[in-house]
Amino acid sequence: MNLIEEVESILKEAQVFLPTSQTEEELDKNKNLFIGKKGKLTSVLKKLGNLSIEEKKAIGKRANEVSTELEETVNSLREKIKKEQLEKLIYSEFYDTLRPIKSQELGSLHPITKIQYEIEDIFVSMGFSIMDGPEVETDYNNFEALNFTSDHPARDMQDTFYVSDGNLLRTHTSAIQVRALKVLKPPFKIIAPGRVFRYEEVDASHENTFYQIEGMAVGKDISAANMVYTMNVLLTRIFQKEVKVRLRPGYFPFVEPGFELDISCTVCEGKGCAVCKQSGWLELLPCGLVHPNVLKLGGLDPNEWTGFAFGLGLDRLVMMRYGINDIRYFHSGNLRFLKQFV
Ligand code: PHE
Repeated sequence: MNLIEEVESILKEAQVFLPTSQTEEELDKNKNLFIGKKGKLTSVLKKLGNLSIEEKKAIGKRANEVSTELEETVNSLREKIKKEQLEKLIYSEFYDTLRPIKSQELGSLHPITKIQYEIEDIFVSMGFSIMDGPEVETDYNNFEALNFTSDHPARDMQDTFYVSDGNLLRTHTSAIQVRALKVLKPPFKIIAPGRVFRYEEVDASHENTFYQIEGMAVGKDISAANMVYTMNVLLTRIFQKEVKVRLRPGYFPFVEPGFELDISCTVCEGKGCAVCKQSGWLELLPCGLVHPNVLKLGGLDPNEWTGFAFGLGLDRLVMMRYGINDIRYFHSGNLRFLKQFV
């Protein structure tokens, strides 16, 4: 290959190779391979020494032309690379402000909380205050002051979880009766909603963690009639229809007399069906008149003061209201269950 042919082949090679450059940096590097100080074209010119003047002129001229042409090629490649990079940048930063967004899913109240708020409103409208108490209670507040002596057999029905300092997870909201007697001056009417705990064999209708709403009214001449009236107002408003109530005797150490309050079956209206086992009645809540010992331990004279108390099982009420057949759904975190109450 003579030198002029070499120059032509450098041109051809450069025209194929230069366009493979991806960045400006790479392009400059590749350019130097051909027309830089140490490039191929320069090395051809270094070999001109032995040639005639004409040949030197001809090759020098051609080399200059090739150099100019490659310079132009490099310039236009540089423009192309810049343009591509800008387009890439614009594309990567493109933000479509008109694209429809996925709408945010809002949470909602748990069905138990919903009904709890409803019940709170009903009681507040009857002049009750709402009280709260701790979930870890003393033995005294949970049992002793409610007339469960330390060897009382009724304690067995409410076995629970004890913490190392001798306190326990409260088995019922009745502990708040004791707290109310300590801090409030009669007459007073309170309800106390809260979470309670029992050592329980879990099944469709029993949980180790559930909710109660305690109620207590203390005043002069408070009787079972006041209690039945209050329960009637509550239940009629909760079930949004007239419900009948009846009392049966029931035993709890902190009430005397104690009752189980039943309501006429909300499914068959008292005619008899599978839900009420053909009896026409559903067992709803325990209640009674505050035991004189409880008043005495609370610092009140039972000859002067009387009261009623009740313990509403909130889970059970919510199950009746919505037709839920398994208590375990409540703490399952199952969204398909929870979304029904949005
Ligand atoms: N605390 C009782 C229980 O959990 C219920 C109750 C409350 C009974 C108030 C009578 C009066 O079983």
